[in-house]
Amino acid sequence: MIGDDPLEGDEPRTDGGTDGADNVALDPWGSSSVSDYRKLFEEFGIEEFDEVLEAVPDPHYLMRRGVIFGHREYRPVAEAMAEGEPFAALSGFMPTGDPHIGHKLVFDEIIWHQQQGADAYALIADLEAHAARGMTWAEIDEHARSYLLSLLALGFDPEEGTLYRQSAEREVQDLAFELGAEANFSEFQAIYGFDGETDVSHMQSVVTQMADILYPQAADEPKPTVIPVGPDQDPHVRLARDLGERMRYFKVSEAYASFELTDDERDLVAEAYDAREEYADDPETPRCEAAATWLEAAVEDGPALESTVEKLANGGKEPLRPRTRFFDRRATDEAFEGLIDAVEGEKRVYDSHVDAFDLEVAEAEELARDLEVEYGGYGFLPPSSIYHRFMTGLTGGKMSSSIPASHISLLDDPEDGYDKVRSATTGGRETAEEQREKGGKADECPVYELYAYLLAGDDDEFTKEVYDECVGGERLCGDCKEQAAQLMREFLADHQENREEVEELLEGTDVVLESPRR
Ligand code: TRP
Ligand code: SF4
Repeated sequence: MIGDDPLEGDEPRTDGGTDGADNVALDPWGSSSVSDYRKLFEEFGIEEFDEVLEAVPDPHYLMRRGVIFGHREYRPVAEAMAEGEPFAALSGFMPTGDPHIGHKLVFDEIIWHQQQGADAYALIADLEAHAARGMTWAEIDEHARSYLLSLLALGFDPEEGTLYRQSAEREVQDLAFELGAEANFSEFQAIYGFDGETDVSHMQSVVTQMADILYPQAADEPKPTVIPVGPDQDPHVRLARDLGERMRYFKVSEAYASFELTDDERDLVAEAYDAREEYADDPETPRCEAAATWLEAAVEDGPALESTVEKLANGGKEPLRPRTRFFDRRATDEAFEGLIDAVEGEKRVYDSHVDAFDLEVAEAEELARDLEVEYGGYGFLPPSSIYHRFMTGLTGGKMSSSIPASHISLLDDPEDGYDKVRSATTGGRETAEEQREKGGKADECPVYELYAYLLAGDDDEFTKEVYDECVGGERLCGDCKEQAAQLMREFLADHQENREEVEELLEGTDVVLESPRR
């Protein structure tokens, strides 16, 4: 069973750097590293972040440097940001250990979106930690507090944003229950590899995460919402997008006649409609049966052909005529009646759908959503996501909480942080001489990553300088690590001081710090 890390075993290299050798562009931030993550684009349909970058008004350095490498439908979020319209950002943390520099990426992403005007949410996934990782409630309380302190220390504004823990947020639990009615076990099996041995509570933690992801819209109104996470969370994002859609009252689609069509069938009928001059006695009213005959002769056999021809033949003399359809998926009777009244222009009403002849699909979508919200539905927009690269471990390989030397905890003693960086693996050459001659391999260097992901902060010049000096052979690993180690020591000392300063701020929020559960 996979559960916590849905892509495990099928994962891209997590080197976080760039290609190096075959890439002569030497672009420290660019897309040169994308080939490592290619599988995610090709097989999972994640889109490249580069493609949406220009739509972001003032992109975060993690975006500029390609650390945030992928997304699903981020454009509406970027547009809302640019236009000063409502949008939200939400992510969650499983309190299984100390917060580390990998979590900092996500903290920073939430905080940045909040600063750009998002309604920001951060949640403690305590149900998931308990169900999927077997953490006790006492452990969870301790870690939860620590995550929240780091989040606040890094700049999250709890007065503007929302903090909660899954177990204590009644509205999230209620929404989880509703969403659970739209999902079934086979689906969980297919997505997460769950089987007969899987705890029921673990499954409940999945529907809870679905509710988390949709919560910003449920608590307020439908709005673009971004979920910043690592790509391992993508299966959750996809399922949440599906479930959000299944909760919708109406499905808006294009149609050509009174009967329903699948997407493939609709494409064929559209083809037949476009060719109406060829077979219709009167091209104003091409008959279904004539379209069926034409289609059968003109189109090569494909999966949907037979069923389309049959549906058209059954349509007999009914004319094909393009229209926008509101299909009643799960609307209340009142909402359906309300829709009928609200559709302007020529319309035709059937048992479970309404066809509108003077309405574009986009207008119809808007009307359907407004109506749904007016009649008490959620009207969810599909949630969006952005994905960041995983950091390479300081010892090479994966950054893992079970290998302390491989990662830096935000609670590490600053001196230990210094030491860990000093003893990190690098992309350096065997000898100083070779390094001067050939340059270092910044793209394969965990220390360079530390600069790009964290230590250089917003300073692109500095990041580029480190990169160029390294690959140009002017920078040697000893000095480079010394500089990074000092910066890390400073960062940790500052961060820990800030954590102390936000203690009171945290106490002042209404997030439940001590669970009554034991
Ligand atoms: N499953 C996430 C993790 O393993 C935690 C999580 C719970 C989450 N709910 C969420 C992440 C909602 C993003 C959005 O860390
Ligand atoms: Fe890495 Fe710095 Fe060495 Fe380059 S010089 S390989 S960036 S440690």
